[in-house]
Amino acid sequence: MQKNPPTLDELVSLTKRRGFVFQTSSIYGGLANSYDYGPLGVELMRNIKNLWWKAFIQQREDMVGIDSQILLHPKTWVASGHTTAFNDPLVEDLVTQKRFRADHLIQEWQEKNNKTSEKSPEEMSVEDMGKYISANKIMSPDNNTVSAPKVFNLLFETSIGSVAGEKSVVYLRGETAQGIFTNFTNITNSTRIQLPFGVGQIGKSFRNEVTTGQFVFRTLEFEQAEIEYFFDPEVTDWQKLLEDWKQAMWNFVTQTLGVREENLRWRKHTDTERSHYSKDTYDLDYKFPFGWKELWGIAYRTDYDLKQHQTLSGENLEATDLENRRFIPHVIEPAVGLNRVFMMVLTEHFWEDAERSRTVLSLPQQLAPNTVAVFPLARNKPELVAVAKEIYVKLAQEVPTAWDDRSNIGKRYLYQDEAGTPFCVTVDYQTIEDQTVTIRNRDTTEQIRIASSEILEYLKKNS
Ligand code: GAP
Repeated sequence: MQKNPPTLDELVSLTKRRGFVFQTSSIYGGLANSYDYGPLGVELMRNIKNLWWKAFIQQREDMVGIDSQILLHPKTWVASGHTTAFNDPLVEDLVTQKRFRADHLIQEWQEKNNKTSEKSPEEMSVEDMGKYISANKIMSPDNNTVSAPKVFNLLFETSIGSVAGEKSVVYLRGETAQGIFTNFTNITNSTRIQLPFGVGQIGKSFRNEVTTGQFVFRTLEFEQAEIEYFFDPEVTDWQKLLEDWKQAMWNFVTQTLGVREENLRWRKHTDTERSHYSKDTYDLDYKFPFGWKELWGIAYRTDYDLKQHQTLSGENLEATDLENRRFIPHVIEPAVGLNRVFMMVLTEHFWEDAERSRTVLSLPQQLAPNTVAVFPLARNKPELVAVAKEIYVKLAQEVPTAWDDRSNIGKRYLYQDEAGTPFCVTVDYQTIEDQTVTIRNRDTTEQIRIASSEILEYLKKNS
């Protein structure tokens, strides 16, 4: 089976057509970098979250999970450095006043003009970017001159006010990580866990992103899944730990999500590019429809965050070892946007079956929104509908199951192929005679007859 990656347009079109992703507020013309997840998308996203949670929290004795607030005490973001250092370099189109990421403009210009061997924007300071843009006369996407780049803070600011007229500034969290750091002592005091251990969290993060046109890859709000893995740097070698976590990330993407290794690569951050808190950072890149881009980051954050919170809050955030040595634990942080994982699995498992004129999403069973779809051969035959409904009800108690009795069987198959449903069961007149059904395989389109009592067993065997 030849699997060619889809173009961005093909992906957007399929996801809209089959109810995975809709542009948000589309009746009002949409909102930049914001999407809603439809009936199939919400199931796929839930499966991704559950697989991540199972692999990294439930199946490891050294991990626990939490769910902290989106609105944290504003000092959190002062301590973490986000109010001052969580910035993107932006230029302004001098005619339209639209803003663009300076590093993205440079990267696109280099790709278009075969200059990718020159210094990359990741290696440039904001001043370097300004000089490069003016030396090469790089224009905005609307072909206008742009201003010199200026840094722009990504945090969304809002306010709370319980007393009329009194308001205080709070921020929508820019990363889920800080809710883990601020709960460090709550977790160590309330659980039996000991260093080295990790805390994981899945939840919404918010960033004031200006780069448009990357679908769910880069959005204003996104589902982040982050781990802070705490350790004693005198006992645990951070380089070895970083390598172990890189391997765990790689295994999850290739084995659990079924992504081919040739579509993945590691990239080490340059010194200028690395975040203010990090001593070493790698990106796990995926070959998205618009090229290699960061899927999942891993950083050695040292003791930066706990130290900062200890200083600003005055709370002791130290750990003690068996000899009563007190120290602030260090952390390795694997952090991923699950919307990017969502986009990756759709890209990876999408293919055009030219021979049979159909589009298929060959999602692994554990990712597929529905495991099986059940059809009566015809909707106007009550005797077939009754048996099919009975089968549907039984299956739906065990696995996600779709029901379809609209139009003809061929059209139903085409719909389920695009929805990523691995199997379709059809109830026909023979079912009434001998309690067998046809079961069709999405990827091969092969159909076999099996006893209706054996469907579940068959689905398990073929998962
Ligand atoms: N706590 C560390 C941190 O947040 P990051 O590299 O800024 O590090 C981690 O973000 C991951 O979050 C990225 O690798 C990416 O998967 C995801 N991410 C970041 N910004 C995003 C956005 N605007 N939309 C979707 N995902 C995003």
